[in-house]
Amino acid sequence: MFETVADLPFSIQKLMNKAHEARDKAYAPYSSFKVGAALQLKSGEIITGNNQENAAYPSGLCAERVAIFYAGSQHPEATIQSMAISAKSMNSKITKPVAPCGSCRQVLAEYEVNQNSLMELYFMGESGKVLKSNSVKDILPLVFDSKFL
Ligand code: THU
Repeated sequence: MFETVADLPFSIQKLMNKAHEARDKAYAPYSSFKVGAALQLKSGEIITGNNQENAAYPSGLCAERVAIFYAGSQHPEATIQSMAISAKSMNSKITKPVAPCGSCRQVLAEYEVNQNSLMELYFMGESGKVLKSNSVKDILPLVFDSKFL
């Protein structure tokens, strides 16, 4: 846990800033809850995404999946080193880290397993502490993956 963004390594501060920027462009007219995600590839490239809601509510998608599916579609061979996630509610000030939902954990896990190296995750609210997880597997114990199929 980091007390503030300023305590993060500089490269992660930059990544979190990209997540903030993406978050502010989210399409969240129904929940008023905006989320941004920024992925750092091994090549140095940063890919971002944000939540995209829909009038048919379940058709919307979380920021983390928008970002990682885009990364997967554009850079299928890339290794994702880290992901920063930032959440902001239009109704209240979120000062606690917001962790990815279960469906996003499952999707992120697929990429982590396939790339054979761990993905660091950093998540936060609008301000306040930043929680770090060293890997997706740490926040998804007993993962279901293709080895079961
Ligand atoms: N949301 C995300 O984008 N990421 C998460 O990990 C949690 C939830 C979005 C989905 C929906 O658009 C809004 O936040 C409220 O659930």
